[in-house]
Amino acid sequence: MTNATITGWGRYTPPTILSNDDLEHLTDTSDEWITTRTGIKERRISHIATSDMANIAGRRALAAAGLEPEDVDLVMLATCTGDTVIPSPAALLQAKLGAFNATAFDLNAACSGWLYGIDLATSMIRIGRHRRILLIGAERLSHYLDFSNRATAVLFGDGAGAVVLEATTDDEGVLATTTGADGSAAEILWVPGVGTSGDRYQNEDHSAYGVIMDGPEVFRRAVTTMGEAATRVVVEAGLDVDDVDLLIPHQANIRIIDATARRLKLRPEQVYVNIQAYGNTSAATIPIALSEAVEQGRVQPGSILVFAAFGAGLTWAAASVRWGARVEPIGTATVDVPPPDGDVFDLLRSNIEFFGKGVSE
Ligand code: UT7
Repeated sequence: MTNATITGWGRYTPPTILSNDDLEHLTDTSDEWITTRTGIKERRISHIATSDMANIAGRRALAAAGLEPEDVDLVMLATCTGDTVIPSPAALLQAKLGAFNATAFDLNAACSGWLYGIDLATSMIRIGRHRRILLIGAERLSHYLDFSNRATAVLFGDGAGAVVLEATTDDEGVLATTTGADGSAAEILWVPGVGTSGDRYQNEDHSAYGVIMDGPEVFRRAVTTMGEAATRVVVEAGLDVDDVDLLIPHQANIRIIDATARRLKLRPEQVYVNIQAYGNTSAATIPIALSEAVEQGRVQPGSILVFAAFGAGLTWAAASVRWGARVEPIGTATVDVPPPDGDVFDLLRSNIEFFGKGVSE
């Protein structure tokens, strides 16, 4: 049987940090509230486009797999914050990578996008449609935030993570996947006014351009659904929860992560958490976390990993994976990135001016 196994991993996290202390100058919040209610201490703000972040993460994943960009036959970009609508950011990315033997498309399932990609890539490899796939989750959520709105400004950040999936006949790789959606609850987490449903001639209403979320309702649904999805991919892989070595969950709230871990009866050392450093980077959280976990030796040859995510749509997904024999990258990519122009408040200047609240002392 043909399996889909992860052979490369990489990430790009922008250098500019927006700390909880910085946010206290932009909105009515506190480090104490954000830390205790979410687990987040800081997040990154990107000075480059989504497809540029994806390009860097993608090149790093390809180098780790020992591949050149021309070697992949599909580039899949999971994002809900692409730099363009036409053409797809995946097309821009394909050119930036120089992956000219690959077809390229975007996949938008919000925070579940990268895991939807794992599900799709695995199916495509299993049926022989593709053999080498570069799957990237990249998000520039800062573009859609109103930094004067404490309900959402404190939660999200920018970044990109990538993996290479290759066909193998070895007994490894993606074991089981599950995906789901419930569009009837779309309005508990959405960005109104963007897209063809918006009125392009009535852009005066500033509030129409930002993430709107019923936090407690999203929280309630995420806790139940992520735990169920994670359990399903363990059972469908013919495994027991005792077999799980590491859970790498979507990083939206430390309390959601803890609840998912409790559901699987995992100890803290069996759960990868980096929400404190990056906040919620939507489709990028899991591939960023995976690439860090491999580097830190938290993933070993043959490790059983479980991924689980939940997000806007509503969407959810999970996957179980048996890691292959290699945990060292074959190569590393050196990529030149232009430095940011100014500090974090400079990067957010147009946002702060647009929403009209300013920076307090
Ligand atoms: O990837 C999926 C996307 N999103 C999520 O998964 C998010 C899921 N939801 C959550 O993580 C949590 O619901 C939040 C972190 C968004 C909010 O936490 P909560 O414990 O559910 O708080 P809440 O919304 O019930 O608000 C409690 C209080 C309210 O004040 P009052 O009415 O009790 O006086 C809020 O106004 O906390 C207030 N509050 C804040 N205070 C300081 C809400 N946001 C903030 C803030 N700083 N940033």
